[in-house]
Amino acid sequence: METETFARLLTDQGQRLLTELREYAPEEELALATRLRREHPAELVSAALGQARLRQRAQPKFGDDAARMYFTPNGVEQSTRRSVAEWRAARFSRLGVARLADLCAGNGGDAIALARAGISLLAVDRDPLTCAVAAANAAALGLSELIEVRCADVTEVAVDGFDAVFTDPARRTAKGRVFDPAAYSPPLSWAIEAGRRTPLGALKVAPGIPHEAVPEDAEAEWVSDHGEVKEAVLWFGTAPAADAPHRATLLPGPHTLTGGRLPDPPAGPVRRYLYEPDGAVIRAHLVAEVAARLGATLIDPMIAYLTSDQLLATPFAHAYEITDLLPFNVKKLKILLRQRAVGTVVIKKRGIGLTPEELRRQLKPEGPNTATVFLTRVADTPTMLLAQPVAQPAGGWM
Ligand SMILES: C[S@@+](CC[C@H](N)C(=O)[O-])C[C@H]1O[C@@H](n2cnc3c(N)ncnc32)[C@H](O)[C@@H]1O
Repeated sequence: METETFARLLTDQGQRLLTELREYAPEEELALATRLRREHPAELVSAALGQARLRQRAQPKFGDDAARMYFTPNGVEQSTRRSVAEWRAARFSRLGVARLADLCAGNGGDAIALARAGISLLAVDRDPLTCAVAAANAAALGLSELIEVRCADVTEVAVDGFDAVFTDPARRTAKGRVFDPAAYSPPLSWAIEAGRRTPLGALKVAPGIPHEAVPEDAEAEWVSDHGEVKEAVLWFGTAPAADAPHRATLLPGPHTLTGGRLPDPPAGPVRRYLYEPDGAVIRAHLVAEVAARLGATLIDPMIAYLTSDQLLATPFAHAYEITDLLPFNVKKLKILLRQRAVGTVVIKKRGIGLTPEELRRQLKPEGPNTATVFLTRVADTPTMLLAQPVAQPAGGWM
């Protein structure tokens, strides 16, 4: 879409069209488009339909806000989901940030959360349509007073006088996802320097960032939402304790765990309970911290499953009661599941090549009961553990 066409969506006629598309359903698109084209220019109808589709795609990330917001296709994909952006904005706010430069602002996912946290910001992006969309979002959500949008190359923006810089480099090109940090736009090395230019800095990176790539002076945070790891952030200027350069934050909650300097926990025999640490904990290399809180050991030196005879409440791992420990043998597992009338199998795996889909095809489970199967290694031996999830006991978190 051209910037001029997008601007027409913001006129009264464009807004009327978007209102008509509030209840947009893809299966009715053809009939709807035909009807709307009788009264409105075809180009505007296509633009409005495009926005209706993007709003629907954005709903899981932005919830109710999505219906009032505007998007570019790339912007929907690359934007930070509301829960994560709000968590980060709250942290900036707690750290005393009042004025921030949001470098690579995109459609404004982060900018909106930052402004709602009371932070005034300069939101910079080099793509004119993206900037127009970000400005329209600020207006639609009543945040224009706090968000100044500037269309520029971030590498040419002076950040003197700001309390903080937040950089969210583009990690996608027309060819797809970019894995090499040097190929981020702007490159990771530039964004790291930007993070050091103001009293506080933060930089969003892929959660798979190798720990060797985290600079010594950064605090690295991995964030998950409903158990799915969403991103890592390198913070500058937060002065973490020497023994706690890593942070795992689990949303909703929030539950935050810090550490990163403990040696790996010891491995031991499989006990009554199995704990599956959250992905953010694993990425942040904080499994040892969770093991210490639970008094748990690893089931294998190379596998991030913990085991203990005690059931303790923790937000950082899901707990299961183990019912069976079998050598890795699909036929035996199939017989056992038949005997127990298990038709719903949740399959988890770590350290084993067989995919859950392949195992499910082989098992053909049938029956009213449910079980969780862990395909893993115990003392370096391929093993199957049958288990049932257990509710966290009442009382304080460990
Ligand atoms: C990952 S998106 C930002 C998403 C944003 N934080 C949000 O939550 O909506 C990255 C953005 O960086 C912009 N960008 C990439 N390189 C840039 C540069 N050198 N200067 C300004 N913007 C740039 C792209 O246009 C893209 O909109």
